[in-house]
Parts: sequence; C-alpha cells; structure tokens
Amino acid sequence: MDGKVAPNAVAAVSEARQWERLMEMAEFGAIPGQGVNRACLTPLDRAARRLLIGWGTAIGLAPSIDELGNLFLRHEGSEAGLAPVLTGSHMDSQPNGGRFDGIWGVIGGLEAIQALREAGVATKRPIELVAWTNEEGGRFAPGCMGSMAYAGYRRADTWDSVTDSEGLSFGAELAKQLALEADIPRRGLGVVDGTAPFAYVEAHIEQGPLLESRDLDIGVVEGIQGSRWFQVEILGKSDHAGTTPLSLRQDSVQDMLRAITALNALMHDPADVLRFTVGRIEVAPNTSNSVAERVRFTVDCRHPDKAVLAVRGDAIAGVVQSALRQCRATVTERFHAPPSLFAPLVPGVVEAAAKAQGLGTLRMTSGAFHDAQFMVSLCPTGMIFVPSRAGVSHHPSEYSSPAQLAAGARVLAATLAELANR
Ligand code: GLV
Ligand code: MN
Ligand code: MN
Repeated sequence: MDGKVAPNAVAAVSEARQWERLMEMAEFGAIPGQGVNRACLTPLDRAARRLLIGWGTAIGLAPSIDELGNLFLRHEGSEAGLAPVLTGSHMDSQPNGGRFDGIWGVIGGLEAIQALREAGVATKRPIELVAWTNEEGGRFAPGCMGSMAYAGYRRADTWDSVTDSEGLSFGAELAKQLALEADIPRRGLGVVDGTAPFAYVEAHIEQGPLLESRDLDIGVVEGIQGSRWFQVEILGKSDHAGTTPLSLRQDSVQDMLRAITALNALMHDPADVLRFTVGRIEVAPNTSNSVAERVRFTVDCRHPDKAVLAVRGDAIAGVVQSALRQCRATVTERFHAPPSLFAPLVPGVVEAAAKAQGLGTLRMTSGAFHDAQFMVSLCPTGMIFVPSRAGVSHHPSEYSSPAQLAAGARVLAATLAELANR
C-alpha cells in the first residue's frame, strides 16, 4: 500500500459536522463541568441511540441490533458476500464522565463512512458501524459485555442477574430496551453465518498523556494491557458505636482497611507498571454511630504481562483472607480481559494512512481496556488514538479539540477505505 488511499474521502471529512454531532450527543446526560453521565440501558442511552440511528439512516445506512443490544449501521459494499469491516466503540459513559470517551469512536466512524459515501468512494466490502452495549461497566459490572458476547468470549446470558445500585437487573433492563427498540431489525449475535468481520478498527481518545506531551497527532495502537476486576465483600456485625468494646467487635470497615493495606503490598511494583485501584466502596448500614456490618469494595488491577496479571490477581483472595482479624470475606472475580496484541495488518494501515496525511504518529499500548480487546480472537484488529488534553479522561474535563478529532476521523476514513477494498 502506498498510503495514498481515498484522498477524496479524507477531504470529505467534516470537522464541523463531527464536532456538532459530538456536542449534540453530549446533551444526553449532560452534567456540570461539560461532563456526561449516560449509563447504558437508560432512557438517555436510548435517546442517544435514536439520534445516531437518525443520522445513519439519513445517509442510507441500514440499522440492526442483536440480542445484547449492540447496535449496527451498515454501509453496503459493491461485491456480494464479502466479510464486513467493522468500526465503532461505545455510547455509554462513566457516571462522572466526559464528552468523548467511546462516543467519539461511534460518531467518528459515522463521519468517516459519510465522507466515503459523499466522496463516491465505493468499497468492495461492507462497512458496519457498531455501538457496543455497556463498555464502561459503571452501571452494570463488568464492562465490555456487548463485545464479549459478540466475540463468543462469554455467553449472552452471563450477566442477566447482575444488578445496578438500585437493584435492577441487567437482564430485565436489556429486555426492556430490546422491546422498546422492536422496530429496529434484529440480527444474530456475533459471527452468525460463519463469516467473521474482515477487520475491526476502533477510534478512541488516548486517555493518557503520551501524544500531547510529544506533540503527536495519532496513536497507532498495537495492543491493550490486561485487566481484572474483583468484588470483595467483608461481613461482620453491626453494633452500637458507644457501648461495644473494640475487642468484641466484628467491624468490617477496620478489616477492609487491613485488606486494602495488604493488597497494596501485594500490588507494589517499583517499576510502576502494575495498576491497582480500589475505586468503589459501599458500607452498610453507613451511619456514623454504628459499627459497619458489611463492606463491599472493588479491585481493578491491570498489567501488560499475562503472567504478572495471573499471579497477582490469583493471590488477591488469599491476601484478603489473611488480612482479616474479625470478619469473613468473599472475593468474586467479575472481569478478566487478557492482554491483547493486535495483528500487524490494521496498525500498519493506520500508520500508513496517518503518515500519508502528514500526521505525527506513535506506536503505543493502551492502558485502558476497550471492546477491541475482545475482537482480536475474531479478526485483525486495531485502534486509532487522538490526544487527550493533559491525559485526562473518565472526568468531565476530558477534552480533545475539533481539529484533533477531525484528524483522527480522516485517518479512520482512509483506513476503512483501504481495508474495505482488500
Ligand atoms: C475503560 O473504560 C477502562 O476502564 O479502561
Ligand atoms: Mn471508552
Ligand atoms: Mn471509559
């Protein structure tokens, strides 16, 4: 490939249209500080999906959804029977999230496909835009449910009984959404007719500082580090804070502190590569003058090396148990995304497209997990990153400029044109 692919389509990418769509979409779930709180399977999520479907059908794309609620918009290819190129990301956000994480990969994908169509660039293969269900895992844990089920990594009913903070189950909320979207054509889940996608490419904000600090435009992602999520529940006994001697207590908060201290020691990494986070803690009864009967906390642990992730992750339950003095604990693993390495095809096409457009590139590994992680078992996969201001994400202040996002969409348009003509 000489990198000079589809110059007309690249030129047809509209910075203004993409930005206006992102800003319009950000109104669904807008929170103070220019942030977004749009949890999956909520009325806001459904309204956002309807807006996307409206934009897609207006330019001739055909919508469909599968049994996990993954939403597809299809651009037909010129040769019948060829496997599609898939592009997209997710539309749900963190509870205190920003305007770009996930949703840019969807709107940028639409922009790239629209540019191809407007430039009259026919592609042999179909291109399908996908919005995966529940990538963030903020309402229902874990994340990446839609892509895990699509890829056959987990069964479609795996998470039916997972509940949100109000006790609503994923299975029931998904069924409700599917009923409300019954007018949208249904498709089989995953690889239905034995034809895996030809390739998958996901555009996303970097969510880290590397591109900005080096003044580069495009991250050529070569792989994603592994992630494991656990839930730890510590059960003690509630007692009166004024009358119960400390020696007689089963105080779950005190044992949680011991457990987290021990986990910090387990996860210590002088090289600072291993990521260990306790990001959510629930205490019951959560009142200042009662001993806490129950604590639940989450563990998020990540590393690019499968063996390190296996050894440290597998040690969590034992370390928690040995740290307790007064209570009992159960440790449940809720997510295991192995480190993934992308095949050379898509990163090579992305890099050539960016260079042909005069953009500065950096080959990199993603520290965040993505739906792309689960596509590697199905087809050649890749990701396109654009800079994140100050490396910030999962926060309302997350920002990438209209020009940076347009550069990413142009690289995506060229990448799609190249892959869909192979
Ligand atoms: C994705 O949102 C992640 O937590 O990496
Ligand atoms: Mn994301
Ligand atoms: Mn995210």
